[in-house]
Amino acid sequence: MEEKKEKQESRQEPHEEGHEEEHGLTRIGVSLPANLLEKFDRIIEERGYSSRSEGIRDAIRAYIVEYEWMRGETGDQIGTITYIYDHSQRGLVNELMDIQHHYLDMICSSTHIHLSEENCFEVIVLRGDAKRIRELAEKIMALRGVKHVKLTTTHAGL
Ligand code: NI
Repeated sequence: MEEKKEKQESRQEPHEEGHEEEHGLTRIGVSLPANLLEKFDRIIEERGYSSRSEGIRDAIRAYIVEYEWMRGETGDQIGTITYIYDHSQRGLVNELMDIQHHYLDMICSSTHIHLSEENCFEVIVLRGDAKRIRELAEKIMALRGVKHVKLTTTHAGL
C-alpha cells in the first residue's frame, strides 16, 4: 500500500513546481538540509508514521499549537529561553547580543555553553511582561543560524 502511494507521488512529480490542490491537500516543495531530513525520517519511522507527509503534518500542527499557546499567555511572568545556534553564522553573535541588550530590563541572567566546534547553547532567565518575553523569543527564533528555541514561562505571581 505504501509502495503504491510512493509511485503515485513520483508520477505527480512533474507538477511539483509551485503547488497543486488535490482532495483538500496542498502539495508544497520544501528545501531542507540533508541531515535534518535524515533525522526527521528516523524519528517518524521510530514513531510508526505511515508516511513522511503525515509526520510533517503533525510537526506543523505541534508548531501551531505551541505558537498559539505562547500567544495566549499574559501578565507578569518568569521564564527561560533556551536556544542552540551556529556561532559561525555571519553576524549572528552580534545580532543576538543586540537583541538581548534591547530587552535588558527583563533579563535576569544568561549562560553560554560551547557545545561543539560550531554550536553554542544559551539559556536566558527573564522576568517581565508575557508579551515582551514572547517578542524576545520570536526575534531569536527568526534569526538565521538559530537551530532550536524553547520558551518556558510560568506566572511570576503564583
Ligand atoms: Ni559558544
